Amino acid sequence: MVNQLAKGWARTGLALVLLGAAAGGCAREDWKPEVLADTSRSAEHVSLTRGREAYKTYCVGCHGVDGDGNGPAARFLDPPPRDLRTGIIKYAAVEAGQLPHDSDLVRAIRNGLHGTAMSAWQFLPDRTVSATIAYIKTFAGDAYADDEPHVEIVASLDPWSDGDKTEAIAEGKSIYHVLARCNNCHPSYVTRQQLYDLSKKHSGVGISSFRDNMYDAVSTDTEWGYKVLPPDFLTSTLRTGTDPNSLYRVIVSGVGGTAMPTWLGALSEEQLWAMVHYVDSLISLKGTPEATRTHEQLTNQPEFRVPVEDTDGDTEASEGDRQ
Ligand code: HEC
Ligand code: HEC
Repeated sequence: MVNQLAKGWARTGLALVLLGAAAGGCAREDWKPEVLADTSRSAEHVSLTRGREAYKTYCVGCHGVDGDGNGPAARFLDPPPRDLRTGIIKYAAVEAGQLPHDSDLVRAIRNGLHGTAMSAWQFLPDRTVSATIAYIKTFAGDAYADDEPHVEIVASLDPWSDGDKTEAIAEGKSIYHVLARCNNCHPSYVTRQQLYDLSKKHSGVGISSFRDNMYDAVSTDTEWGYKVLPPDFLTSTLRTGTDPNSLYRVIVSGVGGTAMPTWLGALSEEQLWAMVHYVDSLISLKGTPEATRTHEQLTNQPEFRVPVEDTDGDTEASEGDRQ
């Protein structure tokens, strides 16, 4: 247990030392006092007490006594620990703005968030995890008590499931760059000429004006007051894993509290899965010479000129949205 705990903290070294200081110090005053004082030892009292102890042992060093994400280790961390007081988390299988289901919180705690200080707490017994979840919900005041039941987004059956994914990837590439404009925030992965051709084929209008630095991600605001950089799929570590179902979940649900929107209902299941396969095809190039080649091809591409047939008295090309 001690070993596993040490492993859980390994990525944060310093945080372990700081945790002692925080846990020994002030206690949270306003924590469901009526449940704490309950001498009949109700199920809720037992669970919340267990949850509070676990939180003080494992989580407080980063997430803070009040769950405000301001534990003593927080100032060393980028991205910073989640402020748990609004109840909104980033990676929940819900539509934008909705509170997570318990299953989302379990997944965040059990799997951690790759590439951040939030490690995978796999050794904690199930009842400790559910007690900790009951406890962290108290940081959000009555938000959970008033919460309406809402839909949990689950991966549908992949309509492209058999073998060769070439067609799905081609479709996904076009949706990514033209229809859904994922590249408004994430990088583009095609040349300007290819983007022009894709959009011309897709909508009859060739995109011919492009955003600055279109091969870099655009830093965007979050509701927690700091900025995040959307991932570049050829190089970044994805927070929630890269198996197709995880990609489906995060693409369709969006990322809570950030600019990454929900795509539920905006695209058909076939289109959503096509995009999963396209993003997956980029991720699988990560760290390979092919990724370097793609990057070089994009940076050294020839200068783009709007094809002649679209320039003569034809304003279509210049109407293309900025990419
Ligand atoms: C070493 C620091 C650290 C510790 C310890 C830690 N966390 Fe976190 N936690 C983070 C960071 C950093 C993030 C935000 C990562 C991001 O924004 O991508 C986070 C995010 C979360 C989230 C939000 C997930 C989401 O999808 O937005 C929850 C819930 C959470 N932590 C719960 C816990 C619980 C419960 C514990 C104790 C068992 C714990 N954390 C321990 C650093 C920590
Ligand atoms: C308005 C900006 C914006 C748009 C448009 C956008 N994203 Fe994102 N995306 C983000 C942000 C911001 C993040 C989260 C960065 C963070 O907090 O780590 C993100 C994260 C992701 C992730 C990573 C999830 C993880 O587990 O780390 C995937 C995959 C993703 N986006 C795919 C897409 C796809 C596919 C589209 C188009 C259908 C899209 N995004 C459109 C801003 C955007």
